[in-house]
Amino acid sequence: MKGVIPVHVSRIPLLFSSFVLVSILTAGCGQPAAPPAEQAAPAAAPAQDAVERGRYLATVMDCNGCHTPFVKGEPDMTRMLSGHPQDVAITAPPPRPAAPWAVVLSDTNTAWAGPWGVSFTTNLTPDRATGIGGWSEQLFIEAIRQGKKSGVGRPLLPPMPWAMYAKLTDEDLAAIYAYLMTIAPIENRVPNAILPAGAPGTN
Ligand code: HEC
Repeated sequence: MKGVIPVHVSRIPLLFSSFVLVSILTAGCGQPAAPPAEQAAPAAAPAQDAVERGRYLATVMDCNGCHTPFVKGEPDMTRMLSGHPQDVAITAPPPRPAAPWAVVLSDTNTAWAGPWGVSFTTNLTPDRATGIGGWSEQLFIEAIRQGKKSGVGRPLLPPMPWAMYAKLTDEDLAAIYAYLMTIAPIENRVPNAILPAGAPGTN
């Protein structure tokens, strides 16, 4: 009998410690540890972060897909975001395509003819005379929020996806503006849109 007791006694702590261990593991499930306070994001991001965020947003929201002229199916980044090239003259809409087709796109990807007339993607570089170099941040935000030409004019035409971009936060729109102000200014005077008779507003 003397030899049996130590076996029982030695098992009690073993079972107990297993129970404690299982309890600890179970308690940990589904309760991710709170991140240490020092890893929390700073309240005010420095300006350089805004430029980087703007670059990121402009990239994933594909401003280049429309505002940078294409050559052989690729955006020509030497003319990044300079809009429809002034030397590609388009003065009248092309013949309307037969149904079910609705839109005709220039090979530069910058002139779009549809029921709204012909729209030309604008110069988003900070060139003061032909781009948005003279625009304030507030005007830029308004242009996209309200979908108005130069922030105050006629309604922006398709395919500018302003109604979706209007849902960006002020901070994100300001970041896109901050980024655009850092890119190379390119002198390129985009033609006025060709509006069908009776369309709202003028260029
Ligand atoms: C699907 C094509 C398309 C995409 C993508 C696009 N745009 Fe546009 N954008 C246009 C067209 C076309 C116009 C000209 C509309 C007009 O004349 O009414 C325009 C006009 C604008 C205007 C108004 C300029 C003015 O003179 O009033 C701003 C600002 C603008 N775009 C910014 C952007 C930014 C920033 C992005 C990316 C985040 C972007 N666009 C992405 C097609 C596009």
